[in-house]
Order: sequence, then structure tokens, then C-alpha cells
Amino acid sequence: MRPRLLVVDDEPHMAWLLGQILAEEYQLCTAASGEEALARLREDHPDLALVDLRLGQEDGLALLPELHRIDPGLPVIVLTAYASVKTAVQAMKAGAFDYVPKPFDPDELKLTLDRALSHARLYRRVEELERELRRRYGQADLVAVSPQMLRVLAVAEKVASSDAPVLIMGESGTGKEVVARAIHALSPRHAGPFVAVNCAALPESLLESELFGYEAGAFTGARSRKPGRFENAHGGTLLLDEVADMPLSLQAKILRVLEEGQVFPLGARRPCPVDVRVLSCTNRDLPAEVQRGAFREDLYFRLAVIPLRIPPLRERREDIPLLAQHFVKFFNEKYGKQVQISPEGLQALQSYHWPGNVRELRNLVEHTVILTEKRVLGPWDFPPHITRPSQLPTEGQPPAHARGHDPAGAVAASHPGTSKQWAGQLQSSCPAPPPSGDLPLKQARLQAEWWAIREALRVTGGNRTQAARLLGISRRALLQKLKKMPGLSGTS
Ligand SMILES: Nc1ncnc2c1ncn2[C@@H]1O[C@H](COP(=O)(O)OP(=O)(O)OP(=O)(O)O)[C@@H](O)[C@H]1O
Ligand SMILES: [Mg+2]
Repeated sequence: MRPRLLVVDDEPHMAWLLGQILAEEYQLCTAASGEEALARLREDHPDLALVDLRLGQEDGLALLPELHRIDPGLPVIVLTAYASVKTAVQAMKAGAFDYVPKPFDPDELKLTLDRALSHARLYRRVEELERELRRRYGQADLVAVSPQMLRVLAVAEKVASSDAPVLIMGESGTGKEVVARAIHALSPRHAGPFVAVNCAALPESLLESELFGYEAGAFTGARSRKPGRFENAHGGTLLLDEVADMPLSLQAKILRVLEEGQVFPLGARRPCPVDVRVLSCTNRDLPAEVQRGAFREDLYFRLAVIPLRIPPLRERREDIPLLAQHFVKFFNEKYGKQVQISPEGLQALQSYHWPGNVRELRNLVEHTVILTEKRVLGPWDFPPHITRPSQLPTEGQPPAHARGHDPAGAVAASHPGTSKQWAGQLQSSCPAPPPSGDLPLKQARLQAEWWAIREALRVTGGNRTQAARLLGISRRALLQKLKKMPGLSGTS
């Protein structure tokens, strides 16, 4: 089905012209005033909107927040005959996804609408996913679309109904705890408590009393009885986090609790029965720990009845745009911002290898949402280590994504400062290119150029004309180079 496009323009011939250009790809609905546009939005549910900034006596800009009040995910492209830096800045601030100056090139317009549409689809998909997850898990903190993660979740779902112990393995930040919580939420124990103990965070002596509790007088300072985490988790789920760090002596005691279903609080005469489902997590290679004698084999088999391995984020890159979008939404709400990431920005995130996995992505998004003054983030709005290509293309290789129109460039033209000041910024902020002693000269030159161009784009906020001036080359030459450079050809 063709996507629906709402065209808001008070000039009938313009609406007609747009119809001629776009009717093949879009189902059009038109509105000649702000009021009509809101009505169409409520009734026709368009996927995106094209709004003329001059709507007779009305101000098209004022319409943007109203449209977003009804549909926060609606990407709005602004059409303006008054293409000035000021209107572009205002449009983007008012929530436009992008803008197209009149007279427009039909291909340019289609390209801009395409980008907006792909963005909108991602936004809706995240929303759907969050709704679905909320329905299923009673929470929406778990986003996954990659086949690898869906397989993990399918197993998690299947084992949730049993009391079988699950050992969740995976690199740091992959979402082990998130999956553990999902298993609990899906299990018949979901109304009971979910208690997590970090076995790496406490010294051996404290860990034992933390897990099993103690009776009054069990040791100096133990004035009254304190239940342990096992008791706290009674009727629910206990997560032994970082289980590989559990001291050997304690491992034997845990094994006993699991076998007998009862704990001995320190100083207690009688055991205390506990009904607990045990999940455990580790980012270490637990079988290898067993091999080297640091982890008891019998406990390993007891805990790993169902082993679940969460793949690192770099092995499931499809999840990256969804996760990024999910975090952007979350932090926008938290910090009262309205930041978006452009398709090129998402592509840059998708190309990075994320050694810190989902946690690193989440932290990056939080940090960027807090600090940015922009509404739409492009590749160079992220720190250089994210967008630095690990491998540059050989010359002649097609660009990852090329695009001509440059709204953010215009926005950034409001960036105060002269070319000289930028040059100063460029010098002071541009880190040295990474060591490239092992690269052929041509690759090394490309890498150095990539670095310089990226920095020039960054300090000029993505304005290509100004970046070219700063680099001492023509805009045309810069555009040529950008086409060949991964991660840079997009605009913010
Ligand atoms: N699939 C996901 N969807 C949404 N958020 C996720 C997902 N996976 C991880 N996160 C988020 O990433 C962060 C790290 O996740 P989590 O704490 O579960 O990782 P971990 O594997 O337990 O890491 P560690 O080994 O360091 O303890 C958390 O803020 C979590 O909410
Ligand atoms: Mg964890």
C-alpha cells in the first residue's frame, strides 16, 4: 500500500503540482489551512506531512507543534519559498524533520520524503514493539528485532513457565539482566519478588550473610535477625549476577541450598525453607572457569540447566537502529528534549562495533541527547571514535549513502563565528589521525583526509560550504570527496 502523505498548502496550483509529482508513490490528502490539516491528521492518519511555511495569513511554523501534539511520530517536511537560514533554523526548532526550498527539484523532494518515511517507519516500529513488549512482559525495556535476539527470547519465553535454572551468558552490557527480568516477568512467579545479587560486588564474608541472612547475635553487631536475599526472593526469582565471581567456599553452600530448597541463616539452629527460582548471569566463560578449577562443576551443571547466550551487539546490527530510537525516545521524555537521529546518523551507529554493547549505546544516546542543541543528529554529531571508519573504501567504491540537500547545513550557518575562529577550533579539537604506519600511503592519505573533513563538518555543524572554505577546497571538491567517504555523506 502506498504511504499516505498529507500536503498542507493554501495555493491550489501548488497542491496540484505536488499531486502530479507524488501521486504515483503516495496517497495524497490535502489541506488548505491549519485547521483542515489537523482534521485530516485525525481522520486520515497520514504517514508524513509536507507543510508550506506560508499558509495565507497563517504561519505554517505554528502548525508544527500542533501536528506533533496529535501525532508525535509524524515527520513534517517544510516547504518554503523563503529559504533563508533563519526560516530553516526556525523550522527545525519547531520540529520539522527537514525542509525543502522552493523552487524545488522533484527528485530532491522525493528523496527527502523517502528519508522521512524510513525514519517514520522506524519510529512506528519501535512504538509497536514497545507496546507489544509492555503487553507481554509488563515492561518495555527490551527491544529486539534481530533473528539472533528473537531466538534467545523464544527460548526465554519457553523456559519462563518452568522453574528450571537459566544461566545467561554474554559480554558486558549485552542485556543479560534485561533478559533475566523478562524471564521473571513471563513466569508464573511474576507477581513475586525479583531479587538480584551482584556476586562480584561484595567480599566473601558479606556475600554469605547477604545471601543467607543472619540471626540476632550471630556475630558482633548482629542486633536483630536479618533475612537474606534467598528469603527476600521467596515466591519469586533470585538472580545471581556475575556468578563466576562467587568464591569457591560459597559455591558449595549455594549448591546445598539449591539441592535442599532451604537456607541456613548465619547463627540459625534450624534451616529456613525457601521457594526460589534461580537465574544466573556471567560475562565470563564459565566452562573455562570450571576447567581451571575456579568454579565447581556440579554447581555449573545445576545452574546451567538452560544455557542462554546473548550475542554481542556487533553480531546483531539490525537491533542498533531500533535500540537507538528506543533510547532517544526514552531520554527525550526524561530530559524534555525533542532530538531525532537522521537515517545517516543511524547508519553510522550501525557501523560501529560497540565493544560496550547495548550499555555503551544507551550511554552514548543519553549523553548526546543531554548535550546537543540540535534536533536532528547526523553522523558527525557523535564522538569521532564512533564514526571513524575501521576500513576506508578503496577509491571508486560507491558511497554508503549519498545525499545532496543540506538543511542542517543551513541551520548550522547560524553558528556564530568566523572562518578564523573555526580554524582555531579545528586545530584545537581535531585529534591526530590514528596511527596508520601499517597502511599503504594512499589509504593513509584517505584516512587523514577523512579525519580532517569530519572535523571541518563537525565544527561548522555540518555546513558543507563553510567546511569546504575551512579546508581550503571548493564546495564541489568537498562534495566529490564526501561521496566516497563512509559515514560522512549524510547531513544532520
Ligand atoms: N534489548 C534491550 N533493549 C533495551 N535495553 C537494553 C537491551 N539490552 C540491554 N539494554 C540496556 O542496556 C543496559 C545494559 O543491560 P544489562 O544491565 O542487562 O547488561 P548486562 O549484560 O547485565 O551487563 P553486565 O555484564 O555489565 O552486567 C541497561 O541499561 C539495559 O536496560
Ligand atoms: Mg548485568
